[in-house]
Amino acid sequence: MSHLNIVILAAGKGTRMYSDKPKVLHALAGKPLVQHVLDCAALLQPQQVCVVYGHGGEVVPQAMQRYAAKFVMQEPQLGTGHAVQQAMPHLNDDSRTLVLYGDVPLIQHSTLHQMLQAGEGLVLLTVYLDNPTGYGRIVRDAQGDVMSIVEQKDATPEQLEIKEVNTGILLAPTEKLREWLGKLGNKNTQGEYYLTDIVAMAVQQGVAVHTVQPAQRWEVEGINNKMQLATLERVWQQTMANKLMGQGVTLADPARLDVRGNLVCGRDVEIDVGCIFEGEVSLSDRVRVGAYSIIHNASIGQGTQIAPFSHIDDSIVGVNCHIGPYARLRPGSKLHDDAHVGNFVEIKNSEIGQGSKANHLSYIGDSTVGSRVNIGAGTITCNYDGANKFRTIIEDDAFIGSDTQLVAPVTVGKGATIGAGSTITKDAPAGELTLSRSKQITITGWKRPQKGKK
Ligand code: UD1
Ligand code: MG
Repeated sequence: MSHLNIVILAAGKGTRMYSDKPKVLHALAGKPLVQHVLDCAALLQPQQVCVVYGHGGEVVPQAMQRYAAKFVMQEPQLGTGHAVQQAMPHLNDDSRTLVLYGDVPLIQHSTLHQMLQAGEGLVLLTVYLDNPTGYGRIVRDAQGDVMSIVEQKDATPEQLEIKEVNTGILLAPTEKLREWLGKLGNKNTQGEYYLTDIVAMAVQQGVAVHTVQPAQRWEVEGINNKMQLATLERVWQQTMANKLMGQGVTLADPARLDVRGNLVCGRDVEIDVGCIFEGEVSLSDRVRVGAYSIIHNASIGQGTQIAPFSHIDDSIVGVNCHIGPYARLRPGSKLHDDAHVGNFVEIKNSEIGQGSKANHLSYIGDSTVGSRVNIGAGTITCNYDGANKFRTIIEDDAFIGSDTQLVAPVTVGKGATIGAGSTITKDAPAGELTLSRSKQITITGWKRPQKGKK
C-alpha cells in the first residue's frame, strides 16, 4: 500500500478570527494557512488530495486553484468524522489516507514521513501536554496499547488526567477508514460524528494502532484566533532565524526578522533589524542589508551593500553595488556590478550598467543605461505619454546633468554630456555636450513688488 490520499479538513467557520475571510486563508509567513498544509502534503507525492471546506468558504477553492486538489463542501458541519466522510467518494481503497488540518499549518514533512514509516494499521500523531484541557485523550490499556480516544467533554475524571492527547492528524488504510466512518454514530455530548471513534473500532477488529510524536510541539499547533496566529508566526520566524544563524548569517536581532518565503544566504551575510524578505530571495556572500529594507523575489550579488529603508522588488543586483538608503528597485530592474543607486531613486524595468551611478532623487524607467554613466540628481526619464511607454537609452560613459528630463524614446550617445536642467527630446550625439536651456539674463534695476502700506 504505497499509494497515499490526503484529506485536509478546513470546514471550520473560524468564528474567533472575527473576519470575513475563511480562517484557513489567513496568512502565516505571508502564505495562507491551508497553503502551508497543501505544500507540505505535496512533498509526500500523494495520489489524491482532497480539501473539505465549509459553507461560505467558496473562496478557498478559488484561492487554491493552482493545486491539483479536489475541493468538497461540507454543509452542515457535523463533526470531524462527517468531514472526512465527504472526501471518501474521491479516495481509492488501494491506498492509505492521511488526515491533516487546514488550520494546523506548520506540520513538517519529516513528522509525516515518520507516520508513514510507523507500520500498517492506524497511525495517530499524539503529544504529551502538561495541560491537556480541551483535547481528546489517548486511552491506553495496562500493556500500554491504545484502546480509544475520548474527547474532553465525554471523558471520565480519571481519563481527564491523561496527558497524552490527540493532535487530530492520523493515517489509516482507506478501505478500513471507509468502513469505520460508515459505522460512526453521534451519541456523545456534542452530538457530533467524531473521527476519533474509529480508534476503538480499529482496536476491536485487531487492527494495530501506532502512535508517533512530532519533532516539535509547534508542528501540531492549531489556529483559532489572531493571538494564536501571531504567536505561531513568531515561532516560525524564530525557526527561520535560527536556521539562518546556524548557517552563519549575522542577524542584528533574530526577533526582528520576517521571512515570508525562501531566503538563501551566502557566507558572512549581515541583516539589520526590521527587514522583510518575500518570495525567493538570495543574498550572496558578504551582502549587508540595512535596517527596515524590504526585498521581494530578488538576487543580490556578492559584497553588495543595501543601506536602510530600501525596497527591492523582482530585481537582479550584481556584485559590489551600493543601494539606498531609501532606494526603490521596481520589477525588471537589473543592476550590473559596482552600480550605485542612492536615496530617493526609483528604477523600473531598466538595466543599469557596470559602475554607473544614480545617487539622488531620480526616476529611471524603461531604460538601458550603459557602463560608467553618471546620472545627476533629479534626472527623470519621461517614459510615458499617457498611453504608451517608450525606452530611453543612455550609452557608456555618458554624463547626465542634474534636473534633466529625457523624453523617451531618446538615446544619449556614448560619452555624451547633457547640461543640467535640460529637457532632451531628440537624440544627443556621442561625445558632445547637448543642452536645452534658455540663456541666463539679468534685468538690472528690477524691483521686487512691495506690500502696500496700510
Ligand atoms: C479535535 C479532536 C480531538 C483533538 C483536537 C485537536 C475529534 C472528534 N476531536 O477536537 O481529539 O484533540 O481536534 O485539536 O476529532 N472540522 C471540519 N468539519 C467539522 C468539524 C471540524 O472540517 O464538521 C475541522 C475544523 O475546521 C478543524 C478540525 O476539523 O480544523 C478540528 O475541529 P474542532 O472542532 O476544532 O475539533 P476539536 O473539538 O478541537
Ligand atoms: Mg470542536
